[in-house]
Amino acid sequence: MGKLNGKVAVVTGAGRGIGRAIALEYGREGAAVVVASRTPSTVESVVGDIQTSGGEAIGITVDVGEREQIEHMIAETVARYGRLDILVNNAQGFGTKAEPAGSPGHIALEDFPEDTWDHTFQTGLKATLFGMQSAFPHMRGHGGKIINFGSGNGIGAMKGTAAYNATKEAIRSLTRTAAAEWGKYDICVNVIIPTMATDSAEAFFEARPGIREKLAQQIPLRRFGDVDRDIGPVAVFLASSDSDFITGQAIHVDGGQILRP
Ligand SMILES: NC(=O)c1ccc[n+]([C@@H]2O[C@H](COP(=O)([O-])OP(=O)(O)OC[C@H]3O[C@@H](n4cnc5c(N)ncnc54)[C@H](OP(=O)(O)O)[C@@H]3O)[C@@H](O)[C@H]2O)c1
Repeated sequence: MGKLNGKVAVVTGAGRGIGRAIALEYGREGAAVVVASRTPSTVESVVGDIQTSGGEAIGITVDVGEREQIEHMIAETVARYGRLDILVNNAQGFGTKAEPAGSPGHIALEDFPEDTWDHTFQTGLKATLFGMQSAFPHMRGHGGKIINFGSGNGIGAMKGTAAYNATKEAIRSLTRTAAAEWGKYDICVNVIIPTMATDSAEAFFEARPGIREKLAQQIPLRRFGDVDRDIGPVAVFLASSDSDFITGQAIHVDGGQILRP
């Protein structure tokens, strides 16, 4: 018996990195997984990986910057599986709508352009809100688990990434508010704050010489997280009945980096 048998989970940004690792782990734990991400080829590939391991999955290509596409993603999920139990709002866009980027660029606050600000919030805070609002009618009758994503950049005031910092901190606040309002429906809402070696982390380091070493020294466990080993089990815990009395919390999966010793 998997820990998520009989559950239906939607994971956004599941084409690569953290989202992919969570989708694979949910498949191994018995959930029917909706792999929702921007690039059709990666969506198909992750669906294939889950099915090859004996799991159940479908893919939905979605741009979380578009509200109707988020609503369609949830409607398709319920049409296919008849219910929704778990929503992981993992996707986050960078750059602008016209020119998406792989990680947040370095832009001084005084020069911060509105189009970058808007795209970061549209694909971050607002996508998380719209995902939760779309999921709510399908969870309020039987409960549910929602996992959102924050960032140590926001908490530690990383210089040059104002929009990303602000949207991630706003997601933490939104998470606590949702937990407070929806607890009476048995909907648990938590946020994961990761430090993982992924494509976006790599792009972030490459644009800032020396920062990889500086950040690594701040991590008591002396390594960046490995998505295949470190993130999936935590996301399963937050999606399973093992965490039924945990809501409104920020779980740092960061090797202790938040301590900044
Ligand atoms: N890695 C870390 O250490 C770290 C630290 C703090 C917070 N986080 C947060 O953790 C989450 C995952 O990060 P990651 O490092 O795994 O990122 P990643 O390696 O860049 O992967 C992001 C995934 O999201 C998809 N995506 C991006 N924009 C999208 C959009 N508009 N609509 C739908 N899908 C979209 C990407 O699709 P494509 O393949 O099409 O690009 C990709 O599959 C993000 O919320 C991030 O801010 C990560």
